[in-house]
Amino acid sequence: MKLLVTGGAGYVGSVVASQLVEAGHETVVLDDLSKGHKEAVPEGARLVEGSLLDEAFVRETLARGFDGVLHFAALSLVAESVEEPERYYRNNVGGALNLLGAMGEAGVGRLVFSSTAAVYGEPGEVPIPETAPTGPTNPYGSSKLAVDRLIGHVAEARGLAATSLRYFNVAGASGRFGEDHHPETHLIPIVLQAAAGTRESVKIFGTDYPTRDGTAVRDYVHIEDLGRAHQLALEASEPGEHRVYNLGNGSGFSVLQVVEAARSVTGEDIRTEEAPRRAGDPPELVASSDAIRADLGWRPEKPGLEAMISDAWAWMQEHPDGYE
Ligand code: UFG
Repeated sequence: MKLLVTGGAGYVGSVVASQLVEAGHETVVLDDLSKGHKEAVPEGARLVEGSLLDEAFVRETLARGFDGVLHFAALSLVAESVEEPERYYRNNVGGALNLLGAMGEAGVGRLVFSSTAAVYGEPGEVPIPETAPTGPTNPYGSSKLAVDRLIGHVAEARGLAATSLRYFNVAGASGRFGEDHHPETHLIPIVLQAAAGTRESVKIFGTDYPTRDGTAVRDYVHIEDLGRAHQLALEASEPGEHRVYNLGNGSGFSVLQVVEAARSVTGEDIRTEEAPRRAGDPPELVASSDAIRADLGWRPEKPGLEAMISDAWAWMQEHPDGYE
């Protein structure tokens, strides 16, 4: 297939783009490089540089003809979204509107969307099934939920074959592709920076959550396992249908457990300090991924937290300055 990957220079997008190239798909990456890295665009994929907020550019790009789109380009930081809600809606909802409009004009019939566990807010039931009520606790999650809903309407109105994949916490690295955010806000790379000595200590955001050790609990999924789900979703989707799948391993790890696992993987002493809760963070997010396992036969091959940390650690040691 000829596929467009928006945000294909970012952490998740670059890994999925490389998997698509490997599977023999003609792959074009659309990225404005505001967060992504030119060097992260895989060999064999072509980069078209520009923003989804530029409607004319998006139309022109889609008019080149594609069989499907995998849409990753978005702002994705919970705390930042609490500070700048308009920017999050403009980018995430506005970008998706331009993309879907241009796909409609060009007759592109397939879409896989990078959605998030943040749409569930503070779930009443853990592990969280797709049938759980949505109720995001931050603008990031709200903006993603708005796009999920929009996609559902477009699938109904126009026969789009669409899948939303609701990621839990993505971790690890894949070959030459890894996590390189500026600034870094994600727990595992931060913990590994402390292990490497490029950061003095790790702040534990919140030690009074109603969890086993008082720190927040998340479900970590390996980037390669997460990536494979996109191809399965792309192939399985049917016109007029919008499928929604959670993507996680179904096991929760607290912030302190992540730090402990990183100490064991790296053999380094990692200093921590207690800090207040971070705005917009829910106490516990753990996925039920029964639906995608049953419908698409998805199985994680690297479900262990230590394997994810160890792949991220190896990448960080091979790329001490990230992609720079
Ligand atoms: N945390 C710390 N110290 C840090 C960094 C993070 O204690 O220095 C804590 C956070 O407060 C949170 C947990 O570690 O409780 C995980 O935080 P991350 O920033 O790694 O990930 P989030 O759970 O906030 O967010 C990720 C994605 C979002 C997505 C969300 C859904 O970045 O895009 O998962 O689960 F919405």
